[in-house]
Amino acid sequence: MTIAVLSVASEAYPLVKTGGLADVVGALPAALAPHGVAVTTLLPGYPAVLATLRKPRALHRWNDLLGGPARLLTGTLDGTHPLLVLEAPRLFAREGGLYTDALGRDWDDNWHRFAALSRAAADLAAGAVRGRHFDILHAHDWQASFAATYLRYHPVETKAKSVVTIHNLAFQGRFDASVFPALGLPGEAWAIDGVEYYGGVGLLKGGLEAADAITTVSPTYAREIFEPAFGMGLEGLIAARGGRVHGIVNGIDPAVWNPAVDRALAARFTERSLGRRPANKRAVEIAFGLEPGDGPLFTVISRLTWQKGMDVLGECIDSLVAMGGRLALLGSGDAALEHAFRLAADRHPGRIGVRIGYDEPLSHLLQGGADAILIPSRFEPCGLTQLYGLAYGCVPVVARTGGLADTVIDANTAALDAGVATGIQFNHVAADALTTAIGRAVSLYADRERWAMVQRRGMRADFSWAKSGRRYASLYRELLSA
Ligand code: ADP
Ligand code: GLC
Repeated sequence: MTIAVLSVASEAYPLVKTGGLADVVGALPAALAPHGVAVTTLLPGYPAVLATLRKPRALHRWNDLLGGPARLLTGTLDGTHPLLVLEAPRLFAREGGLYTDALGRDWDDNWHRFAALSRAAADLAAGAVRGRHFDILHAHDWQASFAATYLRYHPVETKAKSVVTIHNLAFQGRFDASVFPALGLPGEAWAIDGVEYYGGVGLLKGGLEAADAITTVSPTYAREIFEPAFGMGLEGLIAARGGRVHGIVNGIDPAVWNPAVDRALAARFTERSLGRRPANKRAVEIAFGLEPGDGPLFTVISRLTWQKGMDVLGECIDSLVAMGGRLALLGSGDAALEHAFRLAADRHPGRIGVRIGYDEPLSHLLQGGADAILIPSRFEPCGLTQLYGLAYGCVPVVARTGGLADTVIDANTAALDAGVATGIQFNHVAADALTTAIGRAVSLYADRERWAMVQRRGMRADFSWAKSGRRYASLYRELLSA
C-alpha cells in the first residue's frame, strides 16, 4: 500500500530557502518515493512560490482561516513532485524575508502566519479537503509543528497520524499568551500538556505534545536534546515523550549535490579524477581575491551566528593565517560578525576573502574548490555543509556535536592507518581547540598522499537518502499499524 504523506514546512528547495531545512524538505519526496511513500508538500504562498505556479488550480477555499480568507492552490515543487500552496495575501504576500522584514526584524504576526499554515495542514490531514486523503501529516520545525496540535484537537474521528521533525530546537515559536484566543483552539488546549509554555504559547511545544512521533535529524542530537544545554527548555517534555523520539540522519540530494555533474563548478570531477579539482580552487581564489599558496584553502559557508561558532572562528583567523592557511568565507547573519570578518579580510589581503551574502552557485564552487570546510558549531542538529564537503572532497573540520559527530570520522592515527578517516573533529568550541584542529588540518594537508586518501574516503561515503528514506517509511508504517 502506498502511504500518502503531507509534508508541511515554511521553506523547500528549490523554491524558497534560508538554510538546511529547505534542502531536506525539498529532498524528501524523491527520498521516500522508492519506499512506497507519496509525498505532497504544503508551503506558504510567498510571492516567490506563487510566481512558480503555472496554471494554478484552486483545490479548496477557506472563508475564515484564522480570521480571513485563504485558498489552496496546486503546483509542483520541482516539476515532478506535487505541491500545495496556501494563498493568503494578508499573511504571506510581502517584500522582505520569509520570517523577517527587509531590516531583519521578525514579522510581528509570525504566530498568525504559521498557525494559519498549520491549521490548513491539519484540515487536509483530517480529510476536510475533498479529493485529498493523507495517512501521515509530517510537520517540520516550529513554523509547521502546530499542525499536529490542530490535528489533535480536530473533532473528526478518522485522521492522519502526525510526525513532527525538529530541525533546530533553538527556534521554538514562543509567543505571548494573548494570542491564544485567536488560535481557534478549544479552551482545554491551554494546559501544561497542551500549548501553554512558560506562561505563553509554544508552537513547537504544542506540536511536540501532540505528535504521534517526534524525529530529529541525527542520532546524536536525538540524545543531546534530553540535556538542558541542548533541550533549551524543552528537555523535560522530550524526556517525558522519550519513547517517541527518533534520530534519523539527513541525506543529500544527488540531483543537486554531485561533483561529477555540477554545473556551478569550473571543472567537474569524481574521486578518480581529483586532478581536475584544482581548476575549481583557482576559480575560488579569483572570486575571493586570494593569492595562491602552499597551505590549505579553508572555506566557511554558513549563517554567521553563535550557533555556528562564528565568534570563535573570528578569534582564530590570525593563527590560521600564521599557520599558512587561507580562508574564503561566504555567509551572512549577525551584523557584528559580518563586520569582524570584513575587518579580518582587510587585515590579511590575499589570505582572507569574505563574501557577505547568500549565493547558492558560489557555495557549490567553494565545496568543489576549497581544501577543507570549517564547521565549529556549538550545536548542530544535523548539518549539511559537512555532507556536501565530504561529497566534494572538501575535508570537513568539525566540532564533535550532533550530526557533525555522526557523519565525520576523525583522522586520528588509528583511523588514518585503517584508511577510514574522512575529516577532523575537535571537542570544545573554543579558540584553543579550533586552532589545534586547524593546525592538524595544515599538517595533514602537507602529506598530500594521506590528504587525498581522506578526500577519497569521504567521497565514497554513502550519504544518500537510501537508509534514512527507509527509516522514515518504516516509522510511518509503524504509526499506521499501531
Ligand atoms: P543550517 O540549516 O543550520 O543553516 P545546514 O548545514 O543544515 O545549516 O544547512 C545550511 C544550508 O544553507 C546548506 O545548503 C548551505 O550550503 C546553505 N548556506 C548557508 N549559508 C549560505 C550562503 N551564504 N550562501 C549559500 N548557501 C548557504
Ligand atoms: C537546521 C539545523 C541543521 C540541519 C538542518 C536540516 O537548520 O540547524 O543542523 O542540518 O536544519 O535538518
